[in-house]
Amino acid sequence: MTFARITGTGSDLPEKVLTNADLEAMVDTNDQWIRERTGIRQRHIVAPDEATADLAERAARRALEAADRRVGDIDLIIVATTTPDRVFPSTACLLQQRLGIHGCAAFDLQAVCTGFVYALGVADKFIRCGSARCALVIGAETMSRIIDWTDRSTCVLFGDGAGAVVLEASDEPGVHSSHLHADGHYSHLLHVPKGVATAPGEVAAARTFVEMKGNEVFRVATNTLGRIVDETLAANGLNKSDIDWLVPHQANIRIIEATARKLKMSLDHVIITVDRHGNTSAASVPLALDQGVRDGRIKRGDMLLLEAFGGGFTWGSALVTY
Ligand code: UT7
Repeated sequence: MTFARITGTGSDLPEKVLTNADLEAMVDTNDQWIRERTGIRQRHIVAPDEATADLAERAARRALEAADRRVGDIDLIIVATTTPDRVFPSTACLLQQRLGIHGCAAFDLQAVCTGFVYALGVADKFIRCGSARCALVIGAETMSRIIDWTDRSTCVLFGDGAGAVVLEASDEPGVHSSHLHADGHYSHLLHVPKGVATAPGEVAAARTFVEMKGNEVFRVATNTLGRIVDETLAANGLNKSDIDWLVPHQANIRIIEATARKLKMSLDHVIITVDRHGNTSAASVPLALDQGVRDGRIKRGDMLLLEAFGGGFTWGSALVTY
């Protein structure tokens, strides 16, 4: 039986750091509110001439190096992003060109903050059924481009970044299972209300931004993530104590703490980056994963629970032996 295993991780953050103090000078907010309600202290923001593919490329090259793979080994590229460089070609095709890869399948996947977990689930299925052997799976976002920097209820929350993994065919797992869900019924609670087909002029002028009913999203996210923890453990016949590391989506420290409580897990076993990265949407889970791997906390053989929740609503999880 063929499984898919993560053989390398990488990530990238733009150089510019925007602190809560910087935001105090931009909107009616304060450091204390942001830290207490979200856990965020700072976030990284792209330069005017940087875009999603730049972050994705740097993260991908680091993941390839960590996996000791060359670009020629890659036979599938999936980029999870809500903020593609262009309407088309996909960011995955732009990345493929930059890496000098020709011919393999390359596509973007849009599941907002759950994007990387979706992409990992899809790549896992490609590998399990023999359609790919060595995939680049990336979450990359420039959320700062779709934020209204005069809206204090959203602009303090998001940041830019990218994370990547190399996922390879292996005799041993790997990805044990992935659980992907959506319910479009909730689309109005967290959305960018216009798009290329509904308001092309405004999109071209970048006059359409993230809107969120934060406390309603918070309530559904907390309950839903609790349920997906149960679903993931049950599907694999595991107990809470079998999980070594929780690698959660980084939207709000209070949501992360609620999921950790559900797992009866101390925060010492949760990879937390929200304080330094903010919410980087599809990039947040692979950024946290790379952080945990590179600082030596996550070791080969550890059991990881990856989970995310986001616009759509979408939500999902993956159980992974690293
Ligand atoms: O990644 C995708 C999924 N996204 C999420 O999971 C996000 C989920 N939601 C959240 O994380 C939280 O709901 C927020 C952090 C967005 C907001 O926290 P909250 O505790 O739900 O606050 P709230 O929206 O209920 O607002 C409380 C108060 C309001 O003032 P009043 O009406 O009580 O006087 C807001 O106007 O806080 C005010 N407020 C702010 N004050 C200072 C809202 N934003 C700010 C701000 N600075 N930036």
